[in-house]
Formats: sequence, structure tokens, C-alpha cells
Amino acid sequence: METQIIIAVDGFASCGKSTLAKALAKSLDYIYIDTGAMYRAVTLYFLENKVNIKDEPSVMQALDDINIRFQILDKKNTTFLNGKNIEEEIRKMYVSEWVSEVATVSAVRRAMVKQQREMGQQKGVILDGRDIGTVVFPDAKLKFFMTASLEVRTQRRLTELQNQDRSLTPEAVAKNLQHRDHIDSTRDDSPLRQAKDAVVIDNSNITQEEQLAMCLALVNMRIA
Ligand code: DC
Repeated sequence: METQIIIAVDGFASCGKSTLAKALAKSLDYIYIDTGAMYRAVTLYFLENKVNIKDEPSVMQALDDINIRFQILDKKNTTFLNGKNIEEEIRKMYVSEWVSEVATVSAVRRAMVKQQREMGQQKGVILDGRDIGTVVFPDAKLKFFMTASLEVRTQRRLTELQNQDRSLTPEAVAKNLQHRDHIDSTRDDSPLRQAKDAVVIDNSNITQEEQLAMCLALVNMRIA
């Protein structure tokens, strides 16, 4: 069997992890896995089915009933929950408001990490998330840890959300990003941390093209 190569892209909310991970996957012809979408899918299911995260039996039952799949539709990575396309729904603000709380639940993390490790059994895989380089694949061949200023992240998120809800203010979006970063970094189970061997990328002042070129150069040095 050919050697398996994993690239981990972790970092703060809305700092361009998925943009970089998708661009790298396309350039390298690797599989891309959006692990944040998986926690968002679980959150949507919990909200729709009124699952209380403190009620362990209900959480376990719900996790048994949840099936998450990715498929490329119109050239876009698309998330499916129990056969339904939920890609647009999981990006909405009401899901963002709850996803970090749901991601603190250890049973949820165990179930997602198990699936991520199974999905990662391919030749070349890039995963983006919060704990990929520290917990899911601590032996990943290359790890990026991404960050950007709060202003830049807020602007990016606002642009993404503009088509859905024009009433959103920069203040509300910035508050949600800070709130999620805080919960993600301080939870007991697999908190968001920079892996010791991660390459830090602050993309506040560089273009996507510059970022991709830089990261591809690193891939060539470390992997090829
Ligand atoms: O990448 P994102 O913003 O779509 O992720 C949504 C939330 O999911 C994030 O605030 C925390 C959680 N998450 C996580 O706990 N672990 C991951 N590997 C990916 C996401």
C-alpha cells in the first residue's frame, strides 16, 4: 500500500482554514474533510430534535441516528445529514451560536473523531478543524495552525453570511467568533491548541494566492 499522508489545518474561527485546506486538496489531488461541518451537522440534528446535551442517553441515541456524509455537488464539497443536503443550513448563525457548546460534549467528540479517523484512511487527506494535529492525527505529516486579526475574520464571515441575513452587524459576528474561540480553547476535552510541530500562518495581510504558494512550498519541502 502507498504511504498515507495526512495534512492537518487547525486554527481559530473564520481564519480561512477551509479556503486553504480546499485549495491545497485541489492542488495536491488529496481528499478534503471539513470536520467543523460534522460538528455543525450534529448541532443541527440536536436543535431540530430538541436533544439536550446534558441528557447522556438522549445524546447517545441521537449519535446512533446521525449519519454524516460528504459529496461533491457542482464542484463544491457538500455536507449531508441522514441523506439530506444541509450545507447551507449548517452555516447559518443559529447553528454557529450553538456549535461550540455541542462540541464540548465528549460523547460527540468521540463519535466524530472515530469517523474522521475512518475517513482519513486514504492516500492523501487534508482535514481542517480544531484538534486535528493534536488529537485526531497527532502524527500528521504536516500541520498548519492558522490565525488572523479579529477585524479580518469578522469581515470574512460577514461577507459569507451577507446573502443569508443582511441584518447581521459586525459587532454580532465578532462576538460570536470570540465566544466560539473562547469555548473551543477552554473546553476540557481536546481544546483548540497549536500543536508543537505546527507551522503558524497569520493570513491577516496576505492574499489567498500568497498563502497557497507558501503552503505548497512547505508541502514540497516536507512531503514530496
Ligand atoms: O470550522 P467551523 O467554524 O465550521 O467549526 C465549527 C465549530 O465546531 C467550532 O467552533 C468548534 C467545533 N469544532 C471542533 O470542536 N473540532 C473540530 N475538529 C472542528 C470544529
